[in-house]
Amino acid sequence: CGSAEPPAPPPALAPLKATAPFPIGLSAMTGQFDDPQWVDLVRTHFNQLTPEWEMKMERILTADGGYDFSAADRIAAFARDNALRLYGTTLIWYAQDHPHFHDLDQTRFEADYDRWIATVAGRYRGQAVGWDVVNEPVAENGDGLRDCLWSQRLGQDGYMIRAFEQAKLAAPDAVLFINDYNLENNPRKGATFLRTVERLLKAGAPIGGLGTQSHLDIEIPAGQITRFMRELAQFGLPIHVSELDASLRADRRLDTRSRDEKLAQQKGRVVELAEAFMALPEAQRFAFTAWGLRDTDSWLRREPEDDGRDQPLLFDAQGRAKPLAAALEAAFRR
Ligand code: G3I
Repeated sequence: CGSAEPPAPPPALAPLKATAPFPIGLSAMTGQFDDPQWVDLVRTHFNQLTPEWEMKMERILTADGGYDFSAADRIAAFARDNALRLYGTTLIWYAQDHPHFHDLDQTRFEADYDRWIATVAGRYRGQAVGWDVVNEPVAENGDGLRDCLWSQRLGQDGYMIRAFEQAKLAAPDAVLFINDYNLENNPRKGATFLRTVERLLKAGAPIGGLGTQSHLDIEIPAGQITRFMRELAQFGLPIHVSELDASLRADRRLDTRSRDEKLAQQKGRVVELAEAFMALPEAQRFAFTAWGLRDTDSWLRREPEDDGRDQPLLFDAQGRAKPLAAALEAAFRR
């Protein structure tokens, strides 16, 4: 009997950016630019890039309230040198205010709020194709909006309207997004997000796009993602799947699923998201962004709950395309 044939290697993944009829993005940080495998895979499969954290207030605003763009500029240069669209995140986020803003009187506060947006969005004017102008405004459980420094000083809707107005002045050609997470996972949060968008648009906020981060809960029922995407599309605005990952972890409870069950759930929800996005009118398919390249690049693998085994992304720790990537590529075929 002949020796068993070694299993045929999986077919090489067709470049995602060539198959998809819209930009394919990923999150990036400057430390990854020195990793040849990361650079090679990005050049092959992606045509958009979002700074994972180095274009945020935490990295740009210095202790004395100055601006340090050294990392953000390196990311912008990498995007330009590699024909990647640049997408910026984030201008105003409840999670990141800064001591500099804490002791200002109202006049100074408003002036520095506006200056922050004008300085950052203005710096990448003509390169950043879009911005998360307001990130994660909806309360964690979907019951209303988050209370934060910005809402306390400028009003619940006021801080958001002001941010969009200031971003429009600074970067008139960028698509200005409001962006949030768990919108598919938690229908109550999704509904609050939609009501917030409707209210802000009626108030005249120049919102140009809607971002659904899609950090997917793979245990949600089939159809929930599709329903939310349809509701999101009702505004007729460009939609950005902005931070896709699909953790296999089940935090804070006994997990009786087999690995195969979890991988099947993950594929089911990611393909459902891709198909729901593909079903959008072309003008509303802004971009489809993964929050990292390889499983080991994921923020989820830096979380305290990480068990060292999560596989939330499209490429494995060795940079090989996973069946999930092939399923996504198949879903993107016209
Ligand atoms: O790389 C530095 C390291 O040199 C330094 O020693 C270390 C300690 O200061 O910090 C490291 O940078 C950290 C960076 O992640 C890379 O690991 C930053 O402190 C840390 O704040 C940063 O966290 C990012 C987080 O947003 C806050 O900005 C995560 O990478 C990023 O994945 C996460 O992304 C968010 C989205 O913006 C919004 N949606 C949720 C998503 C996940 O939380």
